Amino acid sequence: MNIIHFDTIDSTNTYLKNNYQVLDDMSFVSASYQSMGRGRNNRLWTSDKNKNLMFSFLIKDEILINKYHEISIIVAYTILEILKEYGLNDVAIKWPNDVYVKDEKICGILLESISLEKMECLIVGVGLNVNQDKFPDNYIHPATSVFKQLNREIEIEILKDKIYQRIIINMNKIKDDYNFYLDIKNHDYLKDKKANAFIHNEVKNVIVEGINEDYTLTIKYDDKKMKINAGEITFHV
Ligand code: BTN
Repeated sequence: MNIIHFDTIDSTNTYLKNNYQVLDDMSFVSASYQSMGRGRNNRLWTSDKNKNLMFSFLIKDEILINKYHEISIIVAYTILEILKEYGLNDVAIKWPNDVYVKDEKICGILLESISLEKMECLIVGVGLNVNQDKFPDNYIHPATSVFKQLNREIEIEILKDKIYQRIIINMNKIKDDYNFYLDIKNHDYLKDKKANAFIHNEVKNVIVEGINEDYTLTIKYDDKKMKINAGEITFHV
């Protein structure tokens, strides 16, 4: 396990992509500022310097790599657990891997893999809004932060240590086949919501039935039920 911090870097995910061969399993790398932070769907991830928590960690363990479809939702759940311990209310997981407080996004997760002949490693990037109090109006999802929720500044280093430790615990639980489903099901932001979803390049009005035990999502549209995997669909609630 390596713990690395950069004052400024392009992207902690990119750093792990470029250095995974020489780093240990469960290495963590964080940054106070990213000049080219990356979000899902090729979006940029921006953050004021020193205000938020941005880190990535590396998974080289084969058991976990084979359970890649569980990783990001359980990392989202880990962030949710810690936020609740800090006293935040109404925290939920917006499938597949965003953390929301009420109707605002507080954390996003970017899961990437490197595959040669087989999957070599997973890289999990986490962007958690901590002390930033103003966000650009043009964000695709309205944003919030721990500061905005609690009205007080948070010591980022302490929060980071707690999150790293809990991630290690929860990754070990995944290896031991611990079932997070009940915990996750009780914090399902999209459950029973109407949403616009892009399905096969068309916008459909769907109703979300909820997260399933295998971490797929069931939606209903045109009197049909459909089970979808992460990455297959984009939602606008
Ligand atoms: C999302 O689009 O919601 C995912 C955002 C992930 C952002 C984090 S910040 C740390 C890590 N490095 C990156 O470039 N992206 C992830």
